[in-house]
Amino acid sequence: PTTHDDLRDLHDLPSYPKERDDYINPARALLTGPPISPLRFAGGSTGWLVTGYHEAREVLRDPRFSAERWRGDDAMRPVPESVRRDRSSGAGSFLAMDAPQHGHYRGQLTRYFTVRRMRELEARIEDIVADQLDALEAAGKPADLVRHFALPIPSLVICEMLGVPYEERELFQSVAARLLRQDRTDAEFVAGKTELDTFLRTLVEAKRKDPRDDLISLLTAVDELDDEEIGGIAGLLLIAGHETTTNMLSLGTFALLRDPEQLERLRADESLLPQAVEELLRYLSIVNAFPVRIALEDVVVGGVTVTAGQSVAVSVPAANRDPALVDDPDRLDVGRPRSSHLAFGYGIHQCLGQHLARIELVAGYRGLLRRFPGLRLAVPPEQVRMRSDMVIYGAHELPVTW
Ligand code: HEM
Repeated sequence: PTTHDDLRDLHDLPSYPKERDDYINPARALLTGPPISPLRFAGGSTGWLVTGYHEAREVLRDPRFSAERWRGDDAMRPVPESVRRDRSSGAGSFLAMDAPQHGHYRGQLTRYFTVRRMRELEARIEDIVADQLDALEAAGKPADLVRHFALPIPSLVICEMLGVPYEERELFQSVAARLLRQDRTDAEFVAGKTELDTFLRTLVEAKRKDPRDDLISLLTAVDELDDEEIGGIAGLLLIAGHETTTNMLSLGTFALLRDPEQLERLRADESLLPQAVEELLRYLSIVNAFPVRIALEDVVVGGVTVTAGQSVAVSVPAANRDPALVDDPDRLDVGRPRSSHLAFGYGIHQCLGQHLARIELVAGYRGLLRRFPGLRLAVPPEQVRMRSDMVIYGAHELPVTW
């Protein structure tokens, strides 16, 4: 197997391509490169980029690769030194933990995120979608679909689940917008995280005194969890629960509006919606430059040796466009049978909220199709401001008319 030592010109290594081609398609460099190749991380260290579907699954399911981010370097944003030093700042945030600690926290939540549990929420989610369709219409045309539709729906849903007052959305939405910027400074990261932690700690304390019918209150009844850990779990759910789905709702709409043939197929046959959602998740792969894992020992992947301590960035957009996953991967096909795509990750960290996200996406797209038969972009596509500066891809605003 090849190692970095065998590769000359280490200082010439590419860094992760931030820009996408034609707003939506991942950069050519990601799609045409070898399944695993050397990469320079934003923090300056050298590691590997995985673009192959099978290699991505290998990395994500192998316990020799750690998700503890304080150990290494992120693809586009180095983990701040202060966060690396202070591991306690990640209390409860199991996205960045390994087994068995990871399972200790995730295990407290799985029962609240089952398919059955989510089905019970479906009617409420449809009401929320209907309200936001009204809000979009009331905003008058042209309207920003992100602001009046794609952002409020997942924010309202996760707020209700957790018991976070929706009036406080400014705080967590703006923290998310700052934390998920690719070029954010360490100081901004620490400041944003502290703001969110303080807000959630106060909320957890209030719910411990006066429990309500919500997830944070339920967690205060779990003996093994203290307030700091519950705050960490709530913060993870709050950020992961609204940013991702928001961008899938708006970028998915953008992709369909630019592809009238696929849009018409969907309008003509709504029963395609669940598989269309899977296809949009695969095709758009909004998770831009993570997961990142750190090798705990030397591991051979796709013929190269990742040496202990090196970071590996898995490119979900590239893996999901690998012909090893589906035929003709660069084609959006809303009738494509559901694939085993990696849009929700893979292995022990595979998205906890995936069933919830699917229900929100089906309800959201269906609502838009029914209420606005004449929906179209209000500006030329090249004027839509894309989120190339963010860790989660999408559109900053999507001006639409009808
Ligand atoms: C994990 C994507 C919606 C909560 C993940 C991961 C991905 C992902 C790729 C794995 C990260 C890794 O391996 O490092 C998405 C996408 C979504 C979405 C594309 C929407 C379309 C949601 C929602 C929730 C949520 C609605 C809310 C409840 C989580 C949590 C984790 C996670 C808690 C961490 C799981 C763990 O570490 O065990 N998500 N997600 N996600 N997601 Fe999502």
